[in-house]
Amino acid sequence: MSSSSVARTALITGASRGLGLALAHALGQLGWSLIIDARDAAALDAAGAQLAPLTNVIAIAGDVNDPAHRAALAEAAHKLGGLDALVNNASTLGASPRPNLLDYALNDLEAVYRTNVIAPLALIQTLQSTFKSEVRIINVTSDAGVEPYAGWGGYGSSKAALEHLSAILAAEKPEWRVYWIDPGDMRTQMHQEAFPGEDISDRPTPDVSVPGFLALLVGDFPSGRFAARAVTADSEPSTMVQGLRLALTVSDFERATALYRDGLRLPVLDQWISDNSKGILFGAGEATLEIFDEGQAAEVDQIEVGHRSAGPVRVALIVDDLDTASTAMLEKGAVAVSQPILTPWHDRNQRLAFEPHNDVQVTLSHDEQTTPEAEVNT
Ligand SMILES: NC(=O)c1ccc[n+]([C@@H]2O[C@H](COP(=O)([O-])OP(=O)(O)OC[C@H]3O[C@@H](n4cnc5c(N)ncnc54)[C@H](OP(=O)(O)O)[C@@H]3O)[C@@H](O)[C@H]2O)c1
Repeated sequence: MSSSSVARTALITGASRGLGLALAHALGQLGWSLIIDARDAAALDAAGAQLAPLTNVIAIAGDVNDPAHRAALAEAAHKLGGLDALVNNASTLGASPRPNLLDYALNDLEAVYRTNVIAPLALIQTLQSTFKSEVRIINVTSDAGVEPYAGWGGYGSSKAALEHLSAILAAEKPEWRVYWIDPGDMRTQMHQEAFPGEDISDRPTPDVSVPGFLALLVGDFPSGRFAARAVTADSEPSTMVQGLRLALTVSDFERATALYRDGLRLPVLDQWISDNSKGILFGAGEATLEIFDEGQAAEVDQIEVGHRSAGPVRVALIVDDLDTASTAMLEKGAVAVSQPILTPWHDRNQRLAFEPHNDVQVTLSHDEQTTPEAEVNT
């Protein structure tokens, strides 16, 4: 359990199976405390038993439509010191096979709206006194709430109502993060109910949608509608960073080199040997491991910073565009240790740190030889 996330708590409704359980697993692994519910007590207990080795979990069986159950959830949230996140995930498809609107029994339609629209708002109302200042509220919706698919009039229109309710809540409470998220098609019990008798084995499991939820729960996104799988696709980090190089300065260069070259048999990609300094670059799977002696570290610091600067560990990120990457880091609170310089080995490098005087410096590095000329001159 990570100490930074140990104090966080999420309430996820409908977490005995499907998406709710997959998200609970992921948050449990990150050390979040969890409150989970579902109507079937046996299935919920089984889910709670799976999660218990990961984290602190309170499982309360009940129906989100029941005010007494919602009050019990609020009590648990108070007991855990308040909520960092509420995930309104429990939902009903309604009648299956799905009737067309002209045949929809109105009692059934009301029941769908109660579970999919009224209950999520009721939970937000009941739980609001437990929300921490940075709270994230996630209402799980569907593309059926946006696209007018024939045969989806009950469930689809309820999700459309939930979407609009979420958007208005976001406008009324700008200090909260309110997300309404389409998880995409998933191979779950609800999906099977939507397509009775059909083979749904080509649909992905809910795990595929979970990273998008995590990104929203721990990230800095504004309130709004998201498609879970697009969140992570959009924030694909490889567009800015192409590689990680760890640059180590060691007191015994020969021993360290032998350990990696002869012991681990890492391939030597490059080396720099002079009377005063030695450096060697190893391939290390998808990363590279660079070992410097004190002389080489001093030379590199002199070129990049103007004086001996880095500690025994320095992180080097090989980037596509130095200025974009540098600006991105500076905007997030990094400190420039030096301005960008062109090195004798034809990289354009800049040294940054997380705080002034921090030992672990970061070199952003771009190989100018691979840059089109027009870019070099800018
Ligand atoms: N699967 C898809 O392809 C898909 C696509 C788009 C959106 N979604 C949305 O994704 C969310 C999760 O769906 P899923 O596919 O994971 O469904 P699921 O596998 O059927 O799981 C639904 C969960 O909600 C619980 N639940 C249902 N009604 C409840 C109620 N009244 N009170 C408390 N708990 C209740 C269920 O347990 P009990 O039955 O024991 O109560 C279960 O734990 C839903 O909001 C759904 O609309 C799903």
